[in-house]
Amino acid sequence: MSRKLRGAGETAAPGPAANAAWGGRFAGGPAEIMQRINVSIDFDKRLYAQDIAGSLAHCAMLVRQQILSTADGEAIARGLAQIREEIEAGRFPFRAEHEDIHLNIEARLAELIGPAAGRLHTARSRNDQVATDFRLWVRDAIDRLERQIQGLQAALIAQAERHAGTIMPGFTHLQVAQPVTFGHHLLAYVEMLGRDRSRLADCRARLNESPLGAAALAGTSFPVDRAMTAAALGFDRPAANSLDAVSDRDFALEFLAAAAIIGLHLSRFAEEVVIWTSEPFRFIRLSDAFTTGSSIMPQKRNPDAAELVRAKSGRLLGALTTLLAVMKGLPLAYSKDMQEDKAPVFDAADTLELALAATAGMVGDLVPDAAAMRRVAASGFSTATDLADWLVRVLGLPFREAHHLTGALVARAEALGVDLAALPLGEMQKLEPRIAAAIFDVLTVEKSVASRVSFGGTAPANVAAAAAEARRRFL
Ligand code: ARG
Repeated sequence: MSRKLRGAGETAAPGPAANAAWGGRFAGGPAEIMQRINVSIDFDKRLYAQDIAGSLAHCAMLVRQQILSTADGEAIARGLAQIREEIEAGRFPFRAEHEDIHLNIEARLAELIGPAAGRLHTARSRNDQVATDFRLWVRDAIDRLERQIQGLQAALIAQAERHAGTIMPGFTHLQVAQPVTFGHHLLAYVEMLGRDRSRLADCRARLNESPLGAAALAGTSFPVDRAMTAAALGFDRPAANSLDAVSDRDFALEFLAAAAIIGLHLSRFAEEVVIWTSEPFRFIRLSDAFTTGSSIMPQKRNPDAAELVRAKSGRLLGALTTLLAVMKGLPLAYSKDMQEDKAPVFDAADTLELALAATAGMVGDLVPDAAAMRRVAASGFSTATDLADWLVRVLGLPFREAHHLTGALVARAEALGVDLAALPLGEMQKLEPRIAAAIFDVLTVEKSVASRVSFGGTAPANVAAAAAEARRRFL
């Protein structure tokens, strides 16, 4: 940072030496600020394992195709193995002057094995190299996240089994609507997460093509075997078009879109936890392990983990927006803009990993307060629909008429300050003389949930069966 930015009219001070990797036509080195904006090693070092795997596959292919001698191939493979050890042991000398992970590894390889290192880059460019590395990295991240989402589903299903019959209010407009069970509510998230997993699986299937061998953009004059490197790296096939192979970042965008949706699901759940733990609700309790206190109000127990999960989903949304904006104006093929693809993807993967772990922790930790939830479930005339259904079923009224009559009964109960279940039969009969005492059978919350036996409904027996089915489908 010692070199000043060069202003208009100032002559270039003699700078550092030209870059070893591409400095043939350069007389001098980059300005300090050029280097600073160009360098990516601080973040793309996370691609080291994928970069080495890609280089090993490329090297083996070059030897098999007799583009590289066996002796050079062996030296390169040995050197790369040593570099991997150095990186994993924290002994690798990462250097900003080598710009990125690719050039850092190549420079170290040259130190370790000499000029043969320079042959590894035959029939390859950093453009197909980084596209390959990044796909492999996203693929690994998808596999890790998939397992984590499954773990969260397992935690939700276990709680759903425990609470298949625990009654809570179901809401629309956050107004008490109809009684449901807590298990049913939790299984709704299991479904969302199931779709999240399939979105990631779709993304994985589409990204699994190998860019390696596309070289800079046009392909290569060497007799490479792209199918061989693709297979060695677990890709389904080589990417069909060399220009597309080096400039496509759809896979990263799809990953970020899937991540943003997962974040949105976690955020909705987190919001519910915030509501449910609040004093006016008291539907659930989180232990000391997942709450924090207040430095001034000794009585407080705050759901910070839930709030942070809710907030972190905003970062996931931001990551998607960032990369969409980076990519939208780029002509084919590679542009350096694309180096900015990594930071949002790494951040999204890290953020999601943390949010999933915290959510799974809260799900396992939470204990519902069945009495509090039942009390609210029974409030707000939540069994009015059951009453209307009874009028349809037993008296044969058209539903619209039954709805109207039930509205009048609710108004009467409200005027008398009682629940529907406590509205005297005589009061009901004033509005509809055919109403019989049997109507009270449907007016409790227990009867209400037990009657919701339609497929996908909230009857406790349904929920228990749905939880078992979810185990079979997802775990
Ligand atoms: N660090 C670069 C990136 O992440 C590698 C590719 C560089 N290619 C180039 N033509 N300069 O995009």
